[in-house]
Amino acid sequence: MATADIGLIGLAVMGQNLILNMNDHGFVVCAYNRTQAKVDHFLANEAKDTQIIGATSIEDLCSKLKRPRKVMMLVKAGSAVDSFIDQLLPFLEQGDIIIDGGNSHFPDSVRRAKTLAEKGILFVGSGVSGGEEGARFGPSLMPGGNPQAWPFIKPIFQAIAAKAPDGAPCCDWVGEEGSGHYVKMVHNGIEYGDMQLICEVYQIMKEGLGMSSDEMADTFEEWNKGKLDSFLIEITRDILRFKDEDGTALVEKIRDTAGQKGTGKWTGIDSLDRGIPVSLIGEAVYARCLSSLKDERTRASKILVGPTSQTAVDKSEFLDALGEALYAAKIVSYAQGFMLMRQAASDYGWNLNFAGIALMWRGGCIIRSAFLGKIKDAYTVNPSLENLLFDPFFTEATATAQSAWRKVIAMAVTQGIPTPALSTSLNFYDGLRHEMLPANLLQAQRDYFGAHTYELLSNPGTHIHTNWTGKGGNVSSTNYDA
Ligand code: 6PG
Repeated sequence: MATADIGLIGLAVMGQNLILNMNDHGFVVCAYNRTQAKVDHFLANEAKDTQIIGATSIEDLCSKLKRPRKVMMLVKAGSAVDSFIDQLLPFLEQGDIIIDGGNSHFPDSVRRAKTLAEKGILFVGSGVSGGEEGARFGPSLMPGGNPQAWPFIKPIFQAIAAKAPDGAPCCDWVGEEGSGHYVKMVHNGIEYGDMQLICEVYQIMKEGLGMSSDEMADTFEEWNKGKLDSFLIEITRDILRFKDEDGTALVEKIRDTAGQKGTGKWTGIDSLDRGIPVSLIGEAVYARCLSSLKDERTRASKILVGPTSQTAVDKSEFLDALGEALYAAKIVSYAQGFMLMRQAASDYGWNLNFAGIALMWRGGCIIRSAFLGKIKDAYTVNPSLENLLFDPFFTEATATAQSAWRKVIAMAVTQGIPTPALSTSLNFYDGLRHEMLPANLLQAQRDYFGAHTYELLSNPGTHIHTNWTGKGGNVSSTNYDA
């Protein structure tokens, strides 16, 4: 008897919590896992006394789903997704829906949407953000793929999604093909950037201002009451307050080597492929790589010399500046992230709703913050905004923050405290606002040694080669951009 509204494959933490969330909202969910014992254990424990049902096979799962059948996978990105799609196809019919809620790489979702559409199956690649708690009580959901699927999954997705302060669900249709997973990838890249910025501020507080973990926690608590109000600032406050059994801060005992599952790296690689200077996320990924070179850094700490001078600062005044610098750098990181999505939308012909994306990120996800409400406003007022920094609110915010921004970075540089993300944010800001950059000299250099030609300011579009040495030939190389 087909009684289930949706099937869910994958009973790891995220899968179980999404099922319980769906059940809380009155949906009948059929749970399946490759290991039957996991289904049995789930039904007998977490799912006990709910309307959740189980399946003993893929065929059994599909037989229990109301038409059009909706099957959501929460499985490891990669071949497992393709394997489950292959297992499902024999038991699905035209118009049925497959949803991939894992952190899949967006080109895979582009491919899956196309190949399944040819079989009459509607594919949705959805970003799911917010971790265990988000899945259980309200994730941010970023569904994209075959738009015909949206009306059938919208009621479930918008019911279980987190809600913004105005009650709007943090879930809406992102766009075609792999755009849902693309937007999730950019979310994760921005997450890397936000986390790196917070870590750099923490190191400045610790190494530059000599603050204790409790003092730092108090500062993050204060910031969380203002424009830096966000999930990551909030958990940083909690982490800094968390004491080990001996009463000292646990965080100071944790090995300083960062892991990464790869989604932030994907964002950096995609930005290079697309030619968009997403420098802050790139630096955040490299910072994780540098942190993993622990043994080499330990040796280097005994070889490489840093500055000896310490800049005396007024702590309270400097902490205000630090908050301003963090806010300005965050604006740059999000501006870069939206530049990347804008370019991808143009490259793929996706119709991305940037105000809607900011709303999806307003709650439930790891980067959720009050700040995203301002971004949503910016794109609501001007959906075709060329650059977030050109929105009057953000133009003003970066202008007023810049002296603090420069002061903080100057102090860190003088004291030899590494601030790759903070520094690149200011470098990007200064680079963007310069009408003339030194690339004129770079073009001359390329033409000098490789006859790669250049254009004149007075005549863009016409490529010229100069025989700089008087000796070389007059043949110029063909023109192309990598
Ligand atoms: C989320 C998170 C999640 C991600 C973890 C680990 O949106 O809930 O982004 O999808 O997998 O944050 O990511 P890293 O191991 O790459 O830090």
